[in-house]
Formats: sequence, C-alpha cells, structure tokens
Amino acid sequence: MQYTPADLQHTDTSLPIDQILCGDNLELIQKLPDCSMQLVITSPPYFQQRDYGGGMGNETEVNEYIDKLLCLFRECIRVVRDDGSIVFNIGDKYMDSNLLLVPYRFALAAMEISPVKLVNEITWVKRNPTPRQFRRRLVSSTEPFFHFAKSDNYYYDINAFLAQERSPKQVRKKDSTKLGQRYFELITESDLSEAEKTMARRALTEVIQEVLQGQTYDFRMKIRGIHAEPFGGQIGGRTLQMKNKGFTIIRMHGNKLKRDVIETSVVAVKGNKHPAIYPVEVVEEFLHLLTPPGALVLDPFMGSGSTAVACKKLERHYIGYDINAEYCKFAEQRVSATQGQELRLFDEQQ
Ligand SMILES: C[S@@+](CC[C@H](N)C(=O)[O-])C[C@H]1O[C@@H](n2cnc3c(N)ncnc32)[C@H](O)[C@@H]1O
Repeated sequence: MQYTPADLQHTDTSLPIDQILCGDNLELIQKLPDCSMQLVITSPPYFQQRDYGGGMGNETEVNEYIDKLLCLFRECIRVVRDDGSIVFNIGDKYMDSNLLLVPYRFALAAMEISPVKLVNEITWVKRNPTPRQFRRRLVSSTEPFFHFAKSDNYYYDINAFLAQERSPKQVRKKDSTKLGQRYFELITESDLSEAEKTMARRALTEVIQEVLQGQTYDFRMKIRGIHAEPFGGQIGGRTLQMKNKGFTIIRMHGNKLKRDVIETSVVAVKGNKHPAIYPVEVVEEFLHLLTPPGALVLDPFMGSGSTAVACKKLERHYIGYDINAEYCKFAEQRVSATQGQELRLFDEQQ
C-alpha cells in the first residue's frame, strides 16, 4: 500500500505523540481514537516472573493473567488502523517443572475473541541466554513474537525488511573457500553425462562468483538423480531444467531468507535499571517490515523505552505507557540520548 503525505501527518494534536506516559495502560489507551496507530508492538510482563511495582503479571492463575492481557489486546485492535499490525512478545513460565505454554494460550485466546489474523510466530533467538544450571531440562533461549494483522490488507514492506540485513560479503567471508565445494563433488558422483557435468560445473562456478561478489545472496543446486525433484512453487521450469540439463540452480536474491527467526543478543543498557529489556534491533526489524517512515507506533508496556528508541532511530513516531514512574524517567532519558551505548551483557531472561 502506498502512503500519501496526508496519511503520515499526525495532525491530531490531542495525541501524546513521541511521549511516554506514566499510568495504567488500560486506562490510558481508552483515550486514543479508533484506527489511529499503524503498529502496536509490546512485551507485557510475563506471568509471575517479577514484580514491577504494580501493574499486571502477578495474577494467581494463568487464565486471569490471559484475561487481563486480552482486555488490553481488544483495545489494541481498536486503536490500530485497518492496515495495521499488533506484535506481542510473551515469554513462557514453568510451574512445578511444567511448561505452561503461556504465549500459545494467549495467541489462541486472542484469535478466539477477535477477527485478527495471526500472520507469523517470529522466534527471537537469544544468543546469550542467562546461564543456568538446570539438571533436568535445557536452558530456554527463545521467545515468540506474535504478529497479528487487523485485516488482510496489512502494510508489509518485505524489501525494507530484507535491506537491513548483514551484507553478503560479511556473511560469506568466513567460508568463501568452501562455498559450493560439496556440489562439485556431487556433480562428479552423479549419473549426469560428461557434457552435462561440464555445464553443471560451469554454472556452479558462475553462481559462486556471484555470491562472492555480493550480487547473489545464496544459492542451492539440485542435481538429477541426487536431489529430490522440485516441489510447490518450484515445479515447472525447474523440473524441466533437471530433466533436460541434469541440474537447476536456485538463486536467493534477498540478503536474508524470509525466515521467521530473529537472532540477537540480550542487551543491558548502561545506567538503566529495567530488568527485562528487549533489543532495539528486534523492534527495528518489525518497524521496517510493518510501518512506513513517519508512522505512529504504540507500546503500552514501554519499560526501558526500547520501542521508542527504535522509533526515534528509524523516524517513526511513538506513544508509550508504563505504570512505573522510575522506568518512565529512565526511558525518557534513554530516548533523549538516542545514541546511548547498549552493552552486550548476560541479562536476566524475562
Ligand atoms: C516486560 S517489561 C517491558 C520491557 C520493554 N519491552 C523494554 O524493552 O524495556 C513490562 C513493563 O510493563 C509495565 N507494566 C506492567 N503493568 C502495566 C500496566 N497495567 N500499565 C502500564 N505498564 C505496565 C512494567 O512496569 C514493565 O516495565
């Protein structure tokens, strides 16, 4: 969808644009007009994980926690534009050594109470989870981000999302000498005719050069008699190529596969006491994907201000709420600094 300048002007001066308000989000959100936000992205307190000095998260029963979250979720749907999205990051909880699957209970309930569409479950992989010494289970190092859309017409800029990734050269530097070598071996081992093998080796050499020069991000080769025939969207020309030439090469032009995984380190922000900060990097990925520059973004559990920092860096506008006055103050300071150093430390998981 194309945005006109009028779409991007937030002329409603009653909206607290680029502000973080201290208070209960369920009360504050009710002051927002319908269909005024492009994106709601947030991370509520996880069930019985820690005390933020008020607010939600310490309900006795998991169902009570989910019900409270759903009250807010309903309001999020109301304030999001018809082409907008809602992204919720929720962590899980063990009780009596039993994983409660809280995020999935929430996602199912959210779809039951509203006509939203669950577009993706994006898995945040933490490179540096809190080191723990469990004897009878593994350390959890992932959390879901659920991407809900209000309608099928949701704003989605896959090119902006792909453009922000690491450059192909960075990705390839470490293994450039090995790139494609296994395919050369497979060509030799294959039943292709000598003429077909020569063509396959030439095509493979060409695509390796493209990758090393950064023109192509990555590739896969399929060789007749060795690899399974193409399926799904690849049926057609590729099946014919394998039949007639003995091989096909699939070039990947995005610098990132459109994968539902975001991998980052857990961060701690110097001088900021918030115990559960999600990385600005993760929010940035969603901003590129789900909002145009100038869009208005709401985070009803603003915490340390990560969403606001990401918005400021990428020239989106934000509105944030947090019930804890001290966190609001820290968040404001962090946003004003914008270039504040983020240290890669072991931080507590939520
Ligand atoms: C998991 S933290 C959010 C962390 C944030 N994503 C960040 O990167 O810093 C949840 C936050 O929600 C706040 N909170 C809890 N209940 C609230 C409520 N009812 N209204 C507003 N904020 C609330 C807590 O004070 C806490 O800072």
